[in-house]
Amino acid sequence: MKAVRIFKHGDTSVLLFKEYPMPAPGAEDVLVRVLATSVSRWDVTYRVGAWNNGPYKGRGNPGRRMFPLPMQLGRDAVGVVESTGPAVTRFRTGDRVVALPHPENPWCTEAIRGLGNLSTEIDLPAHTTFGGNAQFVALPEHYWLPLPDGVAPQSAAAAMWSYSTSHRILVDRLGGRLNDTVVIAGASGGMGSACVDLAVAMGVRVVALTRNSEKRGYLERRGASVVFVVDPDDAESVDLAVAEIRSMTHGRGADGAIEFTGDRRLLRLCIDTICLGGTIVPVGADWTGTPIPLTDQDLTRLELNVRGVRGSRLDDQRIVLELLAREAITPEIFDVMPLGQAAQAHQILEAGEATGRIVLYPWYGT
Ligand SMILES: NC(=O)c1ccc[n+]([C@@H]2O[C@H](COP(=O)([O-])OP(=O)(O)OC[C@H]3O[C@@H](n4cnc5c(N)ncnc54)[C@H](OP(=O)(O)O)[C@@H]3O)[C@@H](O)[C@H]2O)c1
Repeated sequence: MKAVRIFKHGDTSVLLFKEYPMPAPGAEDVLVRVLATSVSRWDVTYRVGAWNNGPYKGRGNPGRRMFPLPMQLGRDAVGVVESTGPAVTRFRTGDRVVALPHPENPWCTEAIRGLGNLSTEIDLPAHTTFGGNAQFVALPEHYWLPLPDGVAPQSAAAAMWSYSTSHRILVDRLGGRLNDTVVIAGASGGMGSACVDLAVAMGVRVVALTRNSEKRGYLERRGASVVFVVDPDDAESVDLAVAEIRSMTHGRGADGAIEFTGDRRLLRLCIDTICLGGTIVPVGADWTGTPIPLTDQDLTRLELNVRGVRGSRLDDQRIVLELLAREAITPEIFDVMPLGQAAQAHQILEAGEATGRIVLYPWYGT
């Protein structure tokens, strides 16, 4: 079968699209013919080695193995069951299925405490076990859910990882409510596009930030109430956005802010626009180890809440599938490309050109 794997960290030339042996499924595994998979910012992070060699070198994620090599990237995988191991009871050959980008280990202490996204002793696709960037992938039975009738594989591949995490951010971390105003920095990307879509569906007023004036129309069409084009290098454009967000909230400030870019100046902008008692969720990773620009006085004078997020829970992932089936959400697919063009997909993402997700078809053009 054909797959894209990395054997070392580096630029896009380390993504090797080649013939590899078929996966050998175990007794509890489901072997799936992958019809659609995705490329996300995490794939880029893993590829360049920021995770293993960055400021957290040697520490990784508590409860999780270090990122191993070789690796097959692609958090999302959607397809049809090819065969099942003898211990599998829920799936049969021919079933349409979608992989959980964030499976849980129901027997670990964290899941028992209701914190399933923090599950220990579990491998995550494309992080510590092979992901979806292949024609076939074998994963344990409890890593799969049925793909609802009518949901296109490319929609699920574009939505599962981005919407489930965004759902958790909006509902659990931010406690988003009807009529809240939420600032979203990096709103045009895979996560940002999902977050805008969900926030609008929840009746949240979205203030979207982008660095790129060409993405303004896209964000307006997506339902953002206001779009600010902000150049983080230009202090004046940052100050202007802060003033306008304060003005549109009658001086009160936004109820919440979600930062997807990792740019510390945009994170500071988020803090400066927040209302008393508001909440910020810094999601975008900065792999230089630069601390977040927060003072003790920000916490005191605003009684600011800063909430982290680490993936999603099973229920977030179930809800996303149901929203897809109801056509209540519309994942933005920037492009659909053959798996063999994974390197180009990474380049588009790194250049900041994409809106939404790039989907890869493993059987297209082979
Ligand atoms: N904690 C978690 O559980 C979790 C889960 C998933 C993702 N994430 C993180 O969420 C972040 C976003 O992921 P994604 O897949 O949405 O990425 P993405 O598709 O690349 O989108 C990021 C957006 O941020 C802006 N951006 C990119 N590079 C930037 C830079 N150097 N400076 C300022 N802005 C920049 C771009 O928007 P404009 O061009 O419009 O400005 C881009 O569309 C990543 O850091 C990822 O690791 C965290």
